[in-house]
Amino acid sequence: MVNLGILVSGSGSNLQAIIDNIEAGRVDAKIKVVVSNVPDVYALERARKHNIPSVVICHKEFKTREEFDQRLVEILKAHEVELVVLAGFMRIITPVLLRSFPMRVMNIHPALLPAFPGTHVWQTEVDSGVKFAGCTVHFVDEGTDTGPIIIQAVVPVYEDDTGDTLNARILKQEHKIYSQAIQLYAEGHLEIQGHRVLAKGIPKVPDAFMINPPAGIFDP
Ligand code: GAR
Repeated sequence: MVNLGILVSGSGSNLQAIIDNIEAGRVDAKIKVVVSNVPDVYALERARKHNIPSVVICHKEFKTREEFDQRLVEILKAHEVELVVLAGFMRIITPVLLRSFPMRVMNIHPALLPAFPGTHVWQTEVDSGVKFAGCTVHFVDEGTDTGPIIIQAVVPVYEDDTGDTLNARILKQEHKIYSQAIQLYAEGHLEIQGHRVLAKGIPKVPDAFMINPPAGIFDP
């Protein structure tokens, strides 16, 4: 059982998926606290509905990012958090948080990193002409979206996609892989070697592939 602290800034659909997967017994974790840097976001309502303690700390009330992160650390430690889960948390994390939770901060990003780092990337992905997009769960390091990759899911990009339709397709997969990443951590499968995260003991699917457009002289 791993104690989680989940950091949010918005709607919290990833938070909801993690709550649901814990309640369904698929993820061996307990959410000790939800922290939002924005008051009145829907993620807080989700926490309340499931009797999960929540805290709002508004970043605007702190002079520096470091002071804000120091307060975060205090809250997370007070709730005995082992693994920090960024779920749509729209703040840059500083070493103050990372040093207190070394390789124990996870983030989800709506692209196949290292491609398309940054925020609001869906339209950029469509405009770039890539045929596949996806999402990534990674450990957070001191760069932006540069940390060791734990798990990714791939979705096709279609010719009639907009940023919004691609976002919706990716989000469905986010809701699976974040819980999967937490469960891999909880079961002790994750081993960090340099910049790689190995999922020890997880069998591979030989010759798995997808082709897009699925024009088809080769069947998947
Ligand atoms: C998700 O799409 C997540 O990948 C993205 O914010 C959204 C949060 O949705 N995160 C980032 O872009 C981080 N750079 P949610 O609040 O419904 O979980």
